[in-house]
Formats: sequence, structure tokens, C-alpha cells
Amino acid sequence: MEKNAVFPKLNGLAHGGDYNPDQWLGYPDVFAQDIDAFKKAGINCVSLGIFSWASYEPREGEYHFEWLQHVMDTLYENGIYTILATPSGARPAWLDKKYPECMRVDAYGIRNHHGDRHNHCMSSKIFREKLNNINTLLAQRFANHPGLIMWHISNEMGGECFCPECIAKFQEWLKVKYHNDINELNHAWWTTFWSHKYSCFEEIEPPFWNGETSILGLNLDWKRFTSWNMTDCMNSEIAAVKAYNPDIPVTANLMNFFNGLDYREMAKDIDYVSWDSYPRFHNDWETFDDTMRELACSHALFRGLKPDRPFMLMECTPSLVNWQPYNKLKRPGVMRLQALQAIATGSDTVQYFQLRKSRGSFEQFHGAVIDHAGIDNRVFREIAQIGADLKKIAPVAGTHLKADVAILFDWDNRWAIQDMKGMIYDDKKYERVVIEGWKEFNRAGAEIDIISYNDDFSKYKVIYAPMLYIVRPEVAKALTEFVKNGGQLLCTYMTGYVNETLLAHLGGFPGEGLSDLFGVYSEELDTLFPSDRNHIKFADGTVCEVKDCCEVLKVKDAEILAAYTEDFYKDTPAVTVKKHGKGSAYYYAARVSAKDMVPIFEQMCKDAGVTLEKMPETITRHVRYGEEGTYHFYLNISNQSAEVCAVKGTDLLTGKAVSGNISLEPYGVAVVKAE
Ligand code: GLA
Ligand code: ZN
Repeated sequence: MEKNAVFPKLNGLAHGGDYNPDQWLGYPDVFAQDIDAFKKAGINCVSLGIFSWASYEPREGEYHFEWLQHVMDTLYENGIYTILATPSGARPAWLDKKYPECMRVDAYGIRNHHGDRHNHCMSSKIFREKLNNINTLLAQRFANHPGLIMWHISNEMGGECFCPECIAKFQEWLKVKYHNDINELNHAWWTTFWSHKYSCFEEIEPPFWNGETSILGLNLDWKRFTSWNMTDCMNSEIAAVKAYNPDIPVTANLMNFFNGLDYREMAKDIDYVSWDSYPRFHNDWETFDDTMRELACSHALFRGLKPDRPFMLMECTPSLVNWQPYNKLKRPGVMRLQALQAIATGSDTVQYFQLRKSRGSFEQFHGAVIDHAGIDNRVFREIAQIGADLKKIAPVAGTHLKADVAILFDWDNRWAIQDMKGMIYDDKKYERVVIEGWKEFNRAGAEIDIISYNDDFSKYKVIYAPMLYIVRPEVAKALTEFVKNGGQLLCTYMTGYVNETLLAHLGGFPGEGLSDLFGVYSEELDTLFPSDRNHIKFADGTVCEVKDCCEVLKVKDAEILAAYTEDFYKDTPAVTVKKHGKGSAYYYAARVSAKDMVPIFEQMCKDAGVTLEKMPETITRHVRYGEEGTYHFYLNISNQSAEVCAVKGTDLLTGKAVSGNISLEPYGVAVVKAE
């Protein structure tokens, strides 16, 4: 067993999901049937209590943990472990009735009514007290249960609260950040503009939608504060459960490219990253291949939040979801492909929402391992096969991926770009650019990490940092060192425009010395209407289409690789490179498709000595490395069979030795332990 495995007690990978037996306490036969089904499906862990506050404490101070005790004990006797949630994902009605300050206030200043979920005020002292009480009781009773393997903090945290307690806390947070000096804040936010100067911190309100939304520095600090405050609330929950057994790790289930919280900051405080994955398979706007590669990119995002350990696929649906505009079934074989892709890209778990369908209410028709009709059906059979497969590839647990290529993506930068007044006002497509870059470079044969601008760049040979709008001095310095040490760096339009509080860099973009690194400066930023096009032409005659935006570039001392072919900046530089010894700094002033950027990416890899492992068109390959073995995952991301050549080792799924070509059935997978 590799030492980094998420769950040493499971002796392999986890197969499980959200399970809500408290909904079925009036149906005594159901629990026994479920355990039987879990065994048939190779389920070795379940997540309990995610929305169970009202079951634990139906009235203030009246507690019922006996059902949980029975469930955890029985599961454990049957070899099934528990991931236990703290119940802050939803509150009992009595709590909101008696303590309305637990309910959030929206961006118009209106207090919510009771209901729904994921909506507590993160600052409310009474809420935190009540939460701490229930968490403490849970931890006292269960933190040392032999079946407990992890705490699951809350559920899919997110959202903002504009209540008086949150506002006061925000003001305190700003005082600390700006050294209790209102003039420092006024300068950082440039508040002389439109006469928005503050004379004291108490005057500052968050960006109410019918209030102050025009100070960009305020908007960004409010997002940072909200993220910090949510993390602070999460940390209070972690402290409560760890007090009774510090050895039980914690996770929080994150959401795909979720905008509302800075996951990089949050991830520092949890032991393992987990995420909930609901791709829209078989949709009518992209190929299946695209959906799968984008999903791999999301896995890379979460893997990158804690790169020294595997992540967890905390939720995915066994068949369909019920909340998308169109809720299509996953085609046969696709759940298995999705499960094995998660493992291939660094997960140690495959977990579902949900293990059993709820009989009524919001999610009664959401996919589940156990259907209303039972388990004699296609979905259950596929889940059981996944359970069997995960056992066969158990040695993969705790192994890791290796990547020489990284893409930079940060929440701070993302929020700043979204709020930037200019370019395309509503959607500057930062996330799209990151995702499409990931997909195309992956198609070209690269394994790619997604990292932060605070990460150590020296681990990588090639870095793509699109739209690096905020540039702080340390980041500029680190990027410069990266290139001077032989790294290949690719940046684009909108690099280095502003500092950490969104003041424009003076003296030319990209700022903080990056203009020297690239040997260019960007004089103007032109935005194209949706149907406008420009083109750029390379020396070898290649022409690429330009959409959305073009910077008008001035070259100081860089080599020009391509120039615009149209408009008043026709023949002026659009793509440049400046060499620094073995390192290179590429600048792409225009937005072209990620596909069109591949030749430069390939050149960068070549110069950096990175081997690209190009696969047949519909195959993706990921490799997990461990002390006990190297595991090559070949995934056929299409509904046609496909061939892979030059494979050597043992396919753990079939148990057969393979040498030479292997054929993968539609959506098929091979996990080859190398010799
Ligand atoms: C989210 C939640 C779950 C469930 C699923 C449904 O991921 O965490 O509780 O509602 O969505 O897809
Ligand atoms: Zn609040």
C-alpha cells in the first residue's frame, strides 16, 4: 500500500456515496436491503449525516444520535466505513424561527426566509454557537468510532451574506488589511474617483446591488472577505470535530470551477480536496471527447489544490441528475469511464450522489445506486462492475501524477477580470481560455497541472499563464526567474495590467518588469464585436483567426513571430518571443483558438525537453506513479472502438499481460501496470 493513500483502512480505493438512512427510519427493512446492495456493489464507505441536523436535534436541546450509532455500527460490522458530515448544509426550522439572524441577508439587504439549504450566515454568533454545539456532540460520540474514516465539513459551501454582523466583520477585516489607516484604503481603492472617499471604516458597506458597486477594489476585497469568512466558519467546524480525535482527516466537497470561494485558500485548511462532478454528457453543443477532456481539466484543477496527495471524487451521479435543464441518462459504460477517468487523473475515490433515491421531495428522481424499484437494473449492474474494477486496481491508491507543464489559474485574478470595466463587458472568458488551453495541450499529448501564481514554478518546464491580469511584484519576479532558469513561458493579452488592489500599473503593460521579460509593451486593447474577425500570419504562412480582442503591441527587443493582417494595426506584431538563454518568454497579443496555439506550445515543449505522448484521436492517457508500480490508464473517450499501440505490462482490469497493440471497446479502459 502506497503511503499517500487517502484511506489506508480501505486498503485501496474508496467506492461509496451520500447515504441518507435517516429518511428511512420508518422503513426498517430498507437498511438491511441497502447493506446487501452495498456489498453486491463493492461499496466500502458511505457519507452520512450531510443534512441530518433536524434528525439529530428535532427540537432545541433534544438529541437523537441513536439512529446514527446503529447505522455506523452496523455498517462497520459489515466492513463499510463512514465519512461523517457536519450538518451545517441545512438548518432545522426551529433554529431559524427562534434565531432569525442565522438566515442570510441578500445583496439588496433583504433577510431570507427559512428553507432550502447552503444558506447560513457565516458570521452570526448564535449560528456558530448552535453549530458548534451540534458538532461537538457529534464528535464526542463518534470521533473515535472505529468505522469513522473522515469528516465531511458542511456541504458545497458558497454564497454571500450582507447582514449587519457580516458588514461589521468586513469592516474589521479591512481594518486589519489596511493597517487601520483609512487613507491607505482610499488610495488602494482609488476612492477620490466619483467622490467615493471614506472618512472611517464604519462608513464602508459591502457592494449592495442597490448601493456601491463601482469601486472595483471594494468589490474584490468583498469577495476575498466572503471567501475568508466562509473558510473561517469552516475552520470553526474543523476545530470542533478535531478536538475529539485529531487523527481523523477532514474534507469539504467543492464544486467545479466554482466562482464564489477562493478554493486555493480554503484547501490549505482541509486535509483532502474532494469535489462534486456533474458534467453534461452527451449534450448537443460539444463532442463527447470535449466533455471528457474538460472533465479531466477539472480534475487537474482539484488535484492542483493539494498536489502532494490524491484528491477525491466526492459526488457524481450513477445515471442522471434532476436539476439540469435537460436530464439525460448516461449511456451504458459512461459511468465506468467517468469513474476510471477520475482515478486516472489522481482521485483515490469514486463516490456518488446518492446511494439510495429519496422517496419524496426535491431529489426523488435524481440518479442513485439503489432505485425505487431496487437493484435489478442496468445502473446497479454498472455500479457493481465499477466496484469490482476498483478492487482490481487497488494498488493505484496513493500514487501520483507527474506533469512538466502547468497552467496558471487563480480566483483573485478571475474575480478581477470579471469585474474589469472594458474588453467584453460581461464575459471575458477567462475560464474558457484556461479550459480550452488545457484540452488542446492535452490533445497534443501533455499532462498538465493547474497551479496558482503563488506555487513553485521551478517544478515545471513549460508554463501557460493566460490573461494574468493581476501581477504582484513577487509573481513577476518568480516568472522572470523561471524563464531565466530555462523555463518556457507563454502569456497573452491582458497580462500585468493591475496590482493586487486593482490599481493600474504605471509605465506600460505588462507591468512589474514583465514588459522587459517579454520585450514588448501593450499600447492599446481593442475589443472586437462578436462577428468581427482579424487574422494573424506567421512567417511560414500559417494564418489564424482572431476573435474577441487584439492588443496593439510595441516591440522593444523581441522576435516577431506573427503579425496582424487587418485593420489599422495591420502588419504590426501579434505574437512575439524573447529568448533568455535557454528560456523563452512568448507573448500572444490576440485571442486565437487554443488549437491554433498548439504549434507554439509544441515548440516550447521541444525546447524544454518535454516529450509529448500523442495518442490516437479518441484516446486519453494518464499515468500514476508510485513506489510499488507505474500505472498507465488508457481511456477510450468515444463510442467507437479504438486501438492503442506499443503498450507493455499487465492490464489490471483483465489480469492479462499485454504487449503491443490493445483494442479498447467503446468507452473502454485499460489500466496497465508497466513492467
Ligand atoms: C450537489 C449536492 C448534493 C445533491 C447533488 C445533486 O452536489 O451536494 O446534496 O443535491 O448536488 O446532483
Ligand atoms: Zn451575515
